[in-house]
This record gives sequence, C-alpha cells and structure tokens, in this order.
Amino acid sequence: MFNIEANLQADKQYDAIAIAVFDTTKPLQGTLLSLNDMLNGQIEALLKDGDVSTKKNKITKIHTLGHTHIKRLYFVGLGKQEKVSFTSVREAFGSLFKTLKAEKRTNIAIDLSTFSQDNLEWNDIAHALGEAIPTATYEFEGYKRKANVPDFSLESIEIIAAECDHEELKSALEVGYVYGKATNSARTLINLPGNMLTATDLAEYATTLADTYELELEILEKEDMQRLGMGGILAVNQGSVEPPKLIVLKYQGKETWDDVIAFVGKGITFDTGGYSLKPREGMVDMKTDMGGAATVLGAMEAIAELKPEQNIIAIIPSTDNMVSGNAFKPDDVITMLNGKTVEILNTDAEGRLVLADGITYAKQHGANYIVDVATLTGGVIVALGNDITGAMTNNEAWYEEVLEASLEAGEDIWRLPINDKFKDRVRKSKVADLNNSPGRDGHAIFAGTFLGEFAEETPWVHLDIAGTATTKSEYPLGPSGGTGAIVRTLVTLAERFGNNE
Ligand code: BES
Ligand code: ZN
Ligand code: ZN
Repeated sequence: MFNIEANLQADKQYDAIAIAVFDTTKPLQGTLLSLNDMLNGQIEALLKDGDVSTKKNKITKIHTLGHTHIKRLYFVGLGKQEKVSFTSVREAFGSLFKTLKAEKRTNIAIDLSTFSQDNLEWNDIAHALGEAIPTATYEFEGYKRKANVPDFSLESIEIIAAECDHEELKSALEVGYVYGKATNSARTLINLPGNMLTATDLAEYATTLADTYELELEILEKEDMQRLGMGGILAVNQGSVEPPKLIVLKYQGKETWDDVIAFVGKGITFDTGGYSLKPREGMVDMKTDMGGAATVLGAMEAIAELKPEQNIIAIIPSTDNMVSGNAFKPDDVITMLNGKTVEILNTDAEGRLVLADGITYAKQHGANYIVDVATLTGGVIVALGNDITGAMTNNEAWYEEVLEASLEAGEDIWRLPINDKFKDRVRKSKVADLNNSPGRDGHAIFAGTFLGEFAEETPWVHLDIAGTATTKSEYPLGPSGGTGAIVRTLVTLAERFGNNE
C-alpha cells in the first residue's frame, strides 16, 4: 500500500495530496513550491491571505480546478511549530485520514517532508502515520441490518520524502501500521456486546490468534480451575451459566524461557456487580469490562507480528459476573490459588479476584515481571479522568520501564501510591487473610494494593484502564467506544525492554 518517492510523479493523476502547514509566512519549498508554480502563484496568495488554517488538526481543502494532475490539496494544520511532537503529528494524521475517508479519497500522496521537524525523527513521523491510518479510519460494524460503515479502502498512498533512508522509513511505517491494527483488534473486542463475546468466545478468539501466529496456547477449563484451586475466578463465575476460561498465550522470542514478562488482563465479559448489584445506569457499558483482556490480546497480535527478542506470557482470566441462586455473596470467604483467604465484602469488586489468580498463575509459570491491565475501578476515573491510565507498582525499576514505554507510545499513565496504611486496610478481616473491598475512600488504590498481595516480590505494575479503555466521543484517532488504550505501551515495552542499556 505504501510507495515511497523522493518527488511527486509528474505523469500520475492524484485524488489528493496532503501537506502540513504551521507557518504561512515561510518561503515555500519542495512540492509546495512546484505546486505554486503550476497554479500561477495562487498557493502563496492563499497562505498569505489566511485561507489555509494552521490550527492543530484543522484540515483545509483546496480544489485545483483541473490546473494540475493533483485534484485537491489537503492542508493539515499542525499548530505551533515548537509544540509539534510525535503525538501531535499522529493526531494530525488522524484528522487527515478521517477527512480522506469521509470524502472517499483513495489515491493520495502525502508530502512527508512538510511534516519533518528538527525535534522529530523521520522514523517517528513514519510510525505516527502508520498508526494513524488504521486507527483514524476504524469503525465498529455493529449489527444494523443496513450497514452503517462506509466502504473505504485506500488503493495507494504515495509518500514523498526526500533526504532520508526510504527502506528505514518504510519499515517504520509498517511497524506503526501493525501497532494501529492491533489497537483496532482490541477496540473490536471491547465493542462486542456481552452476548456476542462470552469467555468461550474470547478463548476461541485467542485460539485463532495462536493458530495464525504459532503461539503456544493453553485454555484452563472450570474443572482445571477446581483441581488447581483457583478460588477467585471460580467464585466470580459461580452465578453464571457461562463456563469460565483462563486463557494462556506464550510467545517465546529467546532461546531459553527466562526473563519472562507476563501480561495479565481482566476478562470480565459483563459485570452486573453480582449481589452487590450495580445501579441500572452504572451497568450499561459493562460489556467493556474485558478491556484488559482486549489490550493484552491486541498486544500479543502485534508482538507475534513484530517478533521482538522477548519472552511473553499472556494470561486472561475470563467470566461474566452474574446473579443467581448459585452466585457468590458478601460475607463469603474464598481461598485463592496462592492459598490466601479472602472475605468478600462486595461482589462488584470482582476484577481483583480473577486477576489475583491470574497473577499467581503467571508466577507459577515463570513470570519474572508482571503487568496487569484492567478496567478495575470507577475510582480511577474520579482521580485521573478519561485520558490518563492509573498505575501502581511494587518495584521502582520495573515501573520506570513501563513508564518509558508509555511515554514512547504516547499513552499517558500516572502513578498512585501504595503504602502500609492501604495494606493494613486490605489485610483487615476477622475471618480471612484479606478483604476485597475496604471502602470507597481511595478505592482505586485498594484494588491495586489487593493485587500487590499476590504479586508479592515479583516486579509488578498494575494499570487501571477503567477511564481510558473507552470514550464517549469521537477523537482524531478513532470513534467513540473502545480505544485500545495501552496496547501500544505493552508492545513498546516488549520491543524496548532490555535493549536500552
Ligand atoms: N468493572 C468495574 C469498574 C469500572 C467502573 C469499569 C466504571 C469501567 C467503568 C469494577 O468491577 C467495579 O465494579 N468496581 C467497583 C469497586 C468497588 C466495589 C470497590 C467500583 O469501581 O465501584
Ligand atoms: Zn465490578
Ligand atoms: Zn468489573
């Protein structure tokens, strides 16, 4: 799909060319200069007269009225030049491709040289473009009888880039594209309703992924969980007619199975809250409570394609959280996979129960480092809003690695503390070692603290994506619904960990 050239082909017809603008007073260069010549100096005039917006993410379309072999010019506003960054360029590309999709332009050129900046490497610009194309044009098909997704497929994208290595540029583009596609896969899983994506369906999805990419797969059934004593996931599943699954995917990128990174994802396919029932408005959208699982599966797809020299194990405990005569109840005491007992104070704090068993299972399978990803608490939304993922850890150095990866991926995370007072509250119970819901004061932290009791000495980072996994409104890099947040952070972590000394 990508074709990289040093200059525009004079003998070719284009639907459109995209050109970045920040400073309309600068002398014209490159493609812009030759277009200006072809159009009798009219580009210069347009820029001078303020007809082209430099505002961030603003697209100005100009028709060339048959005067050149390029039908339309799409000027892409990049905002203030000194503020241009990897993430702002990625967003601008997103706005561009949303417009191109809406206007059905399929044969296009992008003058990448105009996006080039002193503080931005060519490869970063190419990666940003590669990510933006699939993510900005993503739509969830849904189930309307009349398809509401416009047909759009790009025929060819010609990239104009002088003064850089075209092979390197192409591979950065392709890597970005893989990141974007994997993000979209996570989005689709999040957007699927609970009746269309049960734990069994999720296990089937993982099976297909394993077959496609030759990953090692293990699916634990209810009987396996009973045999092993996975009291956490079994308790949450008790009220369901759907069998639980624990999905394990292994990617071995090293000769030997050491330095293993585990990604553990919360796979609650629907969360009613159980007997601590959610209020009716709070229950809508709880199909997205497998967002952590979707993130981990998305990341595994990209990792399997990019093949970093890393050993990764993905673990997804999956079930729905339902109400029935068999369901677990407040006051119940359960025994977890690691032998610790938990007093249930709130059946709606179910995510930590399934994840705790997932974390223990990861450790039993040689995990040296753990990242868990979960739509775990409403509290993290109150604390950090919908654009920042909450993070907690038991290990500074491992947290630093995850933070660096998130910065490189352009996904914000922010750390919340865990201290002895929180630990005391989680350990407070008359009848068990732990309780699953010490209170609403700082409850995002209680959830993380609880998981820390299972990670114990193994370096671990907890990422609470309750606020970031979905969005209510459209944005430059995607529509409303599942966002695929943190897929790119996990893939970046897998790509860079251990290589940056
Ligand atoms: N799945 C929810 C968390 C959630 C809330 C995700 C909003 C996405 C959006 C989780 O299982 C839950 O219910 N948490 C409770 C914890 C409480 C019982 C301590 C919550 O956040 O209220
Ligand atoms: Zn819940
Ligand atoms: Zn939940």
